[in-house]
Amino acid sequence: MSGIICLEVCMVSTIEICGGKRLGGETAVQGSKNAVLPVLAATLLNQSESIIHNCPDLADVRTSFRIIEELGGRVYYSGHTAIVNTENVNVTKIPDSLMSSARSSVLFLGAMLSRLRYAEVTRPGGCAIGLRPIDLHIKAFRELGAEIDETGGKLYCSLENFKPGIIDLPFPSVGATENIMLISAVSRGETVITNAACEPEIICLQEFLNEMGADIRGAGSEKIYISGVEKLRKVEYTIISDRIFAATCAAAAACCGGDVLLKNTEPSHMRLMLSMLRDAGCRVSCNDDSVRIRACDRLRGLGKIITAPYPGFPTDMQPQIAVVLGISEGTSTVTESIFENRFKYVGELARMGANFKVESNIAIIGGIENYTGARVNAPDLRAGAALVIAGLAAEGITVVDDIYYIERGYEEFEKKLASLGAVIEKVSTEKEIQKFTLKVS
Ligand code: UD1
Repeated sequence: MSGIICLEVCMVSTIEICGGKRLGGETAVQGSKNAVLPVLAATLLNQSESIIHNCPDLADVRTSFRIIEELGGRVYYSGHTAIVNTENVNVTKIPDSLMSSARSSVLFLGAMLSRLRYAEVTRPGGCAIGLRPIDLHIKAFRELGAEIDETGGKLYCSLENFKPGIIDLPFPSVGATENIMLISAVSRGETVITNAACEPEIICLQEFLNEMGADIRGAGSEKIYISGVEKLRKVEYTIISDRIFAATCAAAAACCGGDVLLKNTEPSHMRLMLSMLRDAGCRVSCNDDSVRIRACDRLRGLGKIITAPYPGFPTDMQPQIAVVLGISEGTSTVTESIFENRFKYVGELARMGANFKVESNIAIIGGIENYTGARVNAPDLRAGAALVIAGLAAEGITVVDDIYYIERGYEEFEKKLASLGAVIEKVSTEKEIQKFTLKVS
């Protein structure tokens, strides 16, 4: 066996920020990433057309489009509306290159088993924020009658006889709840999920499926009832707004002495985050679909924060609130109870002067006056956004590398922030990389 090394030119992007500018004005919040991804998987079920409005333009969404096309469907996407036609879906394999690009690829498993009765996939990829096993998905599928064989890292799944029943989740996993809804919506009999995840994105999936003709009740509570129906129909649906995007912008406003109006939001989905910003000293006012955040001169620390399943404090906001606390008065602690590897940004933040100490799954945060600009790496999606917030507040210049992580969940983040007065820019440059190609002789 031998190999050759060749040089390849690729584009590398960074976000560059001149910090310390006050944020002001208004911006519209994008459609929810975590809501649209299961909805895109659900389009396999109606064997027809789905028109999806408020669909954000994100790397993970594009991966879902490619999976649908790989399976034989068609996707037309323009102006935040996706038109998906799954009439001709007949392919039962998703290539590893797509499975490994996003964690949400695993949601196609439930939809494929329902529609095609067979699926061959590898384990999903996604941000490295923890081990992220899929044992709860697999156990539930087996309880519902699927046969799943795992060999050489590949999952061979078939579903001959769907067996409805009660699935009691040991943990309210968002993805497992969605996958059970997807496999059960078109079936014979009633499936009940107990200890289901209660996130707003689960309600969105229920609404989408019911608009297609499914019979699902209880989403948003711990018990979901899915009465299987024979067939689903064409659907037109608007995705809810992204509560994590909105809360991230709210955190940015708090850190930058801002006065920011977030439009196209659902304030009830970010209640805890808003009450924390109030406790920190910000003035927060809500209307039906907008939130205004007016920052105070000096933020106050918040004592103890623990991430938990909804309606608890979202793990997806943990790095962003930690960045707020990093420049708040006093000592605060943040306990990460969902993912085991979500403090990778702490080392980067230390390079900006932050005073964090991590003990096991707890970050102990001593508030400093302000961050200092530095060159930092985005270690994952939400941590990347948090480093951008720190850069907006910091004195001097911050450069955030590896921003493809951020682009998985935030559409044109830098442009939205620039429209609020931030001095921020995405800079793309060509870079030569060495590529090793193996030759088998
Ligand atoms: C979803 C969200 C993600 C968010 C997370 C928790 C999407 C596309 N992603 O991810 O942004 O951070 O919810 O709110 O909606 N677990 C197992 N076995 C399983 C499944 C999960 O042990 O089979 C564990 C995970 O390792 C983790 C916890 O359960 O510790 C929560 O995971 P889960 O709720 O499933 O998150 P995701 O659906 O992957």
